[in-house]
Amino acid sequence: MSTSLGFDRPIRAVVIGAGGGIGAALVQRLMADPGVAHVSACARQPLASGIGHAQHALDITDEPSIAAVASTVGAVDLVLVATGLLHGPGIQPEKTWRSIDPTALMELYRVNAVGPMLVAKHFLPLLPRQGRSLFAAISAKVGSIEDNRLGGWYGYRAAKAALNQLLKTAAIELVRTRPDAVVAALHPGTVTTRLSEPFRGGVSAESLVTPDISANNLLTVLGQLGPADSGGLFAWSGQRLPY
Ligand SMILES: NC(=O)c1ccc[n+]([C@@H]2O[C@H](COP(=O)([O-])OP(=O)(O)OC[C@H]3O[C@@H](n4cnc5c(N)ncnc54)[C@H](OP(=O)(O)O)[C@@H]3O)[C@@H](O)[C@H]2O)c1
Repeated sequence: MSTSLGFDRPIRAVVIGAGGGIGAALVQRLMADPGVAHVSACARQPLASGIGHAQHALDITDEPSIAAVASTVGAVDLVLVATGLLHGPGIQPEKTWRSIDPTALMELYRVNAVGPMLVAKHFLPLLPRQGRSLFAAISAKVGSIEDNRLGGWYGYRAAKAALNQLLKTAAIELVRTRPDAVVAALHPGTVTTRLSEPFRGGVSAESLVTPDISANNLLTVLGQLGPADSGGLFAWSGQRLPY
């Protein structure tokens, strides 16, 4: 059996952040994939029925909740982390260093970098020791240091850059025990979700995609990645982005 995700066996998948725009779309796409036998949908808020074959309460800032879900789901072949924070109460993307707020900065790191790494800590050991497996977290192109031309968004950029570094480091460690595994950071494009809603004014209609299109793009990219790509940052188009 060969699935569009590149596996030669039916797989078990976990999506963290399944209540988000892209996360929910990833769950729906995976459930429609005949190569995916089981999808666990994880979110901090209750999910609508039908999202995932199983649902789990998980807050990525609460390590015990991550550990509890990891011990429940058991073996897994594909882990997708689709959580993220750009704006919220007390948090707005900074246009200038004058707006830097330590509390907001720490919260952006906590959700965008530390949380996904805690998921890696508890879920990477669940991947098979032999054969293909995938662990991907949604990052953002603005987390690329080399690609930073516009400035601004200090906290979100820095937190995503930290996420990229954490994933790269985990990829180096993981290959020692799971040589066929792939760890990837993904850029989903500009997607019509709550996260991007206040910031889409200057984005052309052609550059915007729905969560469903983005999820399809991301799964297509993942299906094309192999162990040699592990640790990289990849755009929705498949292009490898510089760190
Ligand atoms: N949309 C874009 O244009 C775009 C562009 C580049 C990168 N991204 C990245 O894509 C990913 C998905 O974002 P999205 O666009 O789908 O936005 P979204 O709809 O706002 O989804 C983000 C999800 O993260 C969840 N979350 C936040 N903190 C959490 C926590 N402590 N524990 C568990 N879940 C938590 C939110 O949960 P609640 O529902 O409970 O709030 C929400 O479901 C993010 O990493 C984002 O940075 C998005």
